[in-house]
Amino acid sequence: MPVMVQGICHRGLILPRASPVGPMRGYNRRLSSPTESSLPMYTLARQLLFKLSPETSHDLSLDLIGAGGRLGLNGLLCKAPAKMPVTVMGLEFPNPVGLAAGLDKNGAAIDGFAQLGFGFVEIGTITPRPQPGNPKPRIFRLPEAEAIINRMGFNNLGVDHLLARVAAAKYKGVLGINIGKNFDTPVERAVDDYLICLDKVYAHASYVTVNVSSPNTPGLRSLQFGDSLKQLLADLATRRAELALRHGKHVPLAIKIAPDMTDEETVQVAQALIETGMDAVIATNTTLSRVGVEGMEHGDEAGGLSGAPVREKSTHTVKVLAAELAGRLPIIAVGGITEGKHAAEKIAAGASLVQLYSGFIYKGPALIRESVDAIAALR
Ligand SMILES: Cc1cc2nc3c(=O)[nH]c(=O)nc-3n(C[C@H](O)[C@H](O)[C@H](O)COP(=O)(O)O)c2cc1C
Repeated sequence: MPVMVQGICHRGLILPRASPVGPMRGYNRRLSSPTESSLPMYTLARQLLFKLSPETSHDLSLDLIGAGGRLGLNGLLCKAPAKMPVTVMGLEFPNPVGLAAGLDKNGAAIDGFAQLGFGFVEIGTITPRPQPGNPKPRIFRLPEAEAIINRMGFNNLGVDHLLARVAAAKYKGVLGINIGKNFDTPVERAVDDYLICLDKVYAHASYVTVNVSSPNTPGLRSLQFGDSLKQLLADLATRRAELALRHGKHVPLAIKIAPDMTDEETVQVAQALIETGMDAVIATNTTLSRVGVEGMEHGDEAGGLSGAPVREKSTHTVKVLAAELAGRLPIIAVGGITEGKHAAEKIAAGASLVQLYSGFIYKGPALIRESVDAIAALR
């Protein structure tokens, strides 16, 4: 990496006991201050890893986390987060803080990430066939903004390889598998790729995320709008019904969206998700905006911007979704969480779960516990 409640489940979402109806969902309004920013050990590791190119340090970190996981050592790296069980999408999570997609695209270090204390792990984005992604360099650090710009382009080893990694993992917790389309599949045929991946991962995933929001696959984001979105979701819903019968289990489908839509477009997405019976929405992916990084080294690189600069946009998207969904579908919030209090802000905005990516790169595993504590303080 350096790249670069206790509640009652009702239609898949947390309804804390005796909670008032409203965006706070029973958490009280006190936002905790950060308990710790990062462990000294991680600060040292980060100093060393940040001397390498972002992608080299990403690959090395993934190897180390994977090796630590196989040896069962990662739990020693940081104090385990407090237990904070939540039920969302009908699934039980030990805590509401998960690993966001893209860090472990091939499922290489599932046990390692789980041992760091994540309440759930999302792997992918995976495509039907392996593909190399965009030419390097394609990840850029902007440390003064606690940000990353990436244009990886779904580099991955393909869905079959990912499934072999899932089979080899010991992890029995909540595993999300994030699916996408191959670069060379025309966008009009994108649904074929999503269905191939859905068929293959269905039996092995706790939930499946449909990624229609990466800015690095040309045309992909067009699937978030109008009839394209409705058709895609309807096709996925039909296939899911068949798979549910075949496998005897209902695997929730979550749709991951961009932070760059207008409020009206976000509302339309929310309506389409309800109409087609989707189970959750993940908000958000990276942004095309460069607000907050103008004039910085790498600030004008092409790709998606993540980390602190996307925080407000992402949280705004969560608020718009929460107002429209009114509790009918849970929201998984991701984007710009670099301190525990930002995780709590996402929950206060209407999310039921959060995920970390860039903040984890900059702050290390201590951010997981800090986020859990800050969310717990909302109760
Ligand atoms: C290097 C990099 C690669 C990513 N790859 C993926 C991906 O393959 N699939 C996906 O859904 N999101 C991907 N993301 C987006 C993250 O999952 C997350 O939605 C986004 O970075 C915002 O969260 P953050 O500000 O905490 O990083 C990637 C992000 C980064 C920085």
